[in-house]
Amino acid sequence: MKEIEIRMATPNDADGIASLCHHLGYPCQPNEARKRLDRSQRENSTRANIVAASQGRVVAWIEVLLRDTIAADVFGEIDGLIVDEELRGGGIGSRLVEEACKWVRQRGAQRLRVRSNVTREHAHSFYGRLGFRPVKNQVVMDRPLDQDV
Ligand SMILES: CC(C)(COP(=O)(O)OP(=O)(O)OC[C@H]1O[C@@H](n2cnc3c(N)ncnc32)[C@H](O)[C@@H]1OP(=O)(O)O)[C@@H](O)C(=O)NCCC(=O)NCCS
Repeated sequence: MKEIEIRMATPNDADGIASLCHHLGYPCQPNEARKRLDRSQRENSTRANIVAASQGRVVAWIEVLLRDTIAADVFGEIDGLIVDEELRGGGIGSRLVEEACKWVRQRGAQRLRVRSNVTREHAHSFYGRLGFRPVKNQVVMDRPLDQDV
């Protein structure tokens, strides 16, 4: 396999990340991704976007947030993780999760959480192998704010 570089994302990685998001079923325009990456860099004490690149091309991406609330000790949470379909099974996803763990640990948190759609069974076994254990099931609900209830 070609050499893989793991590094913090920059706004120039927006196109690559947007195209990975598309594959996961989350349409994201490159200009939107660029704005979000810009914002993420300004909030870099609580957010990190880490990419894997091969010959300058983004082939995988992980976003991790630091959750610091009144109700719980500070913990990290994976908010997105995608590896290019053609490169799966080569250890890139595991490397990104390890980088996320390192980033979170360096900020004093003792725990990394991921919420994953119940349909993503492959991802659940992937996370299980990396030491994640189920702690609860949740119902996720949205309220659109542009409509009357
Ligand atoms: C889940 C996902 C991120 C895993 O990334 P990946 O790079 O394929 O992960 P790894 O290669 O580190 O590990 C995956 C598998 O390859 C195996 N593997 C790890 N290193 C390997 C290596 N050097 N050679 C061959 N196989 C290897 C692992 O045992 C694991 O087995 P599994 O298929 O039974 O899970 C990737 O499949 C993906 O992007 N899926 C779609 C998006 C998604 O579901 N994201 C998670 C949302 S919560």
